[in-house]
Amino acid sequence: MEEYLRNCDADLLIVPELCTTGYFFHDTEQAASVAETEDGPFCTLIRSLSKELDAAIVAGFVERDGDRLFNSCITVLPDGMWDIYRKIHLFAEEKIHFSEGDRPFPVYCYNGVCFGVMICYDWRFPESVRTLALKGAQIVAHPSNLVAPPSMWGPVMQTRSVENKIFTITANRTGTETRGEESLTFHGKSQITAPNGSILASTDETTEGRIIAEIDPEKSLKKSFSKWNDIFSDRRPDMYEL
Ligand code: ACM
Repeated sequence: MEEYLRNCDADLLIVPELCTTGYFFHDTEQAASVAETEDGPFCTLIRSLSKELDAAIVAGFVERDGDRLFNSCITVLPDGMWDIYRKIHLFAEEKIHFSEGDRPFPVYCYNGVCFGVMICYDWRFPESVRTLALKGAQIVAHPSNLVAPPSMWGPVMQTRSVENKIFTITANRTGTETRGEESLTFHGKSQITAPNGSILASTDETTEGRIIAEIDPEKSLKKSFSKWNDIFSDRRPDMYEL
């Protein structure tokens, strides 16, 4: 992974959820055995790589905070700013191993462009991207270990881009993990999507690799699509009954 990052000439680098450990833990003790604090070796490495590569980096890891574990992402900017997002919506057995994220969806600004972070299963909730977009994110970084088929989440991420007029970047893993008789397969298909829903780059389902796209972040600032309509100022929250 370090080699991929070193050979990637980009301003924003995103690697998958739990990228140092794998996903399909045997039990919470195993998850705890690979967890680290914000000062651990992986977070330290990502901080130094961000500075060395002059790039913002978003990367998933198992975070330990006291006796709690979180499914977290560290985001580092080259100026040394760093922060940790803790996955808000926990999926399946994650509910056994991890505590629910206890911090709001974060938005960071780098070189005049603002991006937000959510992790994997957060995709199922339109509130996740909506919240980030309303907070000013022009790009959503989405590190993932998706087990759902890309034919399901891929079009949804295109919709998330269109309904918020933002770029979304899903960095999903490939491969299969086994646990006794059980297995989990991850379907790759990492995807960079434009505010108009078009896919700018994607990988296939099984090949480990990386994708790069050049984008114009300004395209996500204009929320109107005609002189009549603006998808943010046309919202009617007073009419959205719970
Ligand atoms: C997932 O949230 N990793 C499926």
